[in-house]
Amino acid sequence: MTNSKELKKRMTDMKAIVYEKYGLPDVLELKDVENPTPLDDEVLVEVHAASVNAYDWHFLTADIFLIRLMGGGLLRPKKKTLGADIAGRVVAVGKNITRFHLGDEVFGKAKGGSGGFAEYVCAPEKSLELKPTNVSFEEASTASIAALTALQGLRDEGQIQSGNKVLIHGASGGVGTFAVQIAKSFEAEVTAVCSSRNVDIARSIGANHVIDYTHEDFTLNGELYDLILVANGNRSIDEYKQALKQNGICVLAGGGGGSILELIVGMFQEWWISKTENKKIGSFLANINQKDLAFMKELLASGKVKPVIDQRYSLNNTADALRYLGEGHAQGKIVITMEHASKTYPR
Ligand SMILES: NC(=O)c1ccc[n+]([C@@H]2O[C@H](COP(=O)([O-])OP(=O)(O)OC[C@H]3O[C@@H](n4cnc5c(N)ncnc54)[C@H](OP(=O)(O)O)[C@@H]3O)[C@@H](O)[C@H]2O)c1
Repeated sequence: MTNSKELKKRMTDMKAIVYEKYGLPDVLELKDVENPTPLDDEVLVEVHAASVNAYDWHFLTADIFLIRLMGGGLLRPKKKTLGADIAGRVVAVGKNITRFHLGDEVFGKAKGGSGGFAEYVCAPEKSLELKPTNVSFEEASTASIAALTALQGLRDEGQIQSGNKVLIHGASGGVGTFAVQIAKSFEAEVTAVCSSRNVDIARSIGANHVIDYTHEDFTLNGELYDLILVANGNRSIDEYKQALKQNGICVLAGGGGGSILELIVGMFQEWWISKTENKKIGSFLANINQKDLAFMKELLASGKVKPVIDQRYSLNNTADALRYLGEGHAQGKIVITMEHASKTYPR
């Protein structure tokens, strides 16, 4: 390769995490790939941090078969990149972009929910928001999927009101740590359910009451709740129902798992309870949109919500980050931090 070709390659290539087949994190490779180019309604973000979600795990492993049917690729991954949640700096804008300018610090969701585990990624304007200046890139990178799941679960699905008694099951993970703080910002009385090692974290983020599930069963202690958000938990739908007040709502965001048959039976149970009793139980899928990113931006800027970061990894250790996520015991969020010191993007 001639010197000028080498130089051109250095200017147009970036490091990214790539995978060619579904599997455990060992299938992930750090590769040089071409820098993405933004379409008219996209910006190019120099990624400073990206956070890891169960969403990435599902696309890596295809542990949920539906992933293969819903655009993941039947036999092999279609997109070959991972990383939905990003924070970074705008380095190029498409011609229809009006809200962002070169140099803006932004956070949100990468185009198509993948490609964020890389030095650069494109994102549509509507999936991004300006990063509050008092919040780090690492913190901002955690505030999309997990935060909006907590927000939409509590506010939209759960109809949270000031003074409500709210229980967060699985309060110590990515979704749970946001849910406790967001519920507090709505002036709810919050009970966090977690294991012994996470009791202090739950208190530190503002839970009024903490139930250590290794010592106490919240379904048997006689307390009833206006709203239960299940971030992680493995109780039956009947048990959640028993812990609800009349007119109470239980929102199932995560946890559980199980076969397609169990899923269908569960959906039928949810429908039946909602039809026949003054209680509502239902699952939902979060939707990452600009309006709610702006809502989160205000919560972050005001300090009402402070992301809890458990572990930080470099881009070339992304597989370790995914391994840690797969163990299922993260205390808050897991973040990939990029290094950009030696790289200049051609502008
Ligand atoms: N519906 C949606 O749109 C949506 C969006 C995002 C995520 N999700 C789902 O939400 C779930 C949670 O996501 P996440 O990001 O919070 O995961 P996470 O960060 O990996 O959750 C790990 C945490 O969950 C706790 N935990 C595990 N089992 C528990 C149990 N039985 N009871 C109480 N706590 C338990 C762990 O604490 P210990 O180590 O102490 O057990 C750990 O702190 C996942 O199933 C994910 O797929 C759904």
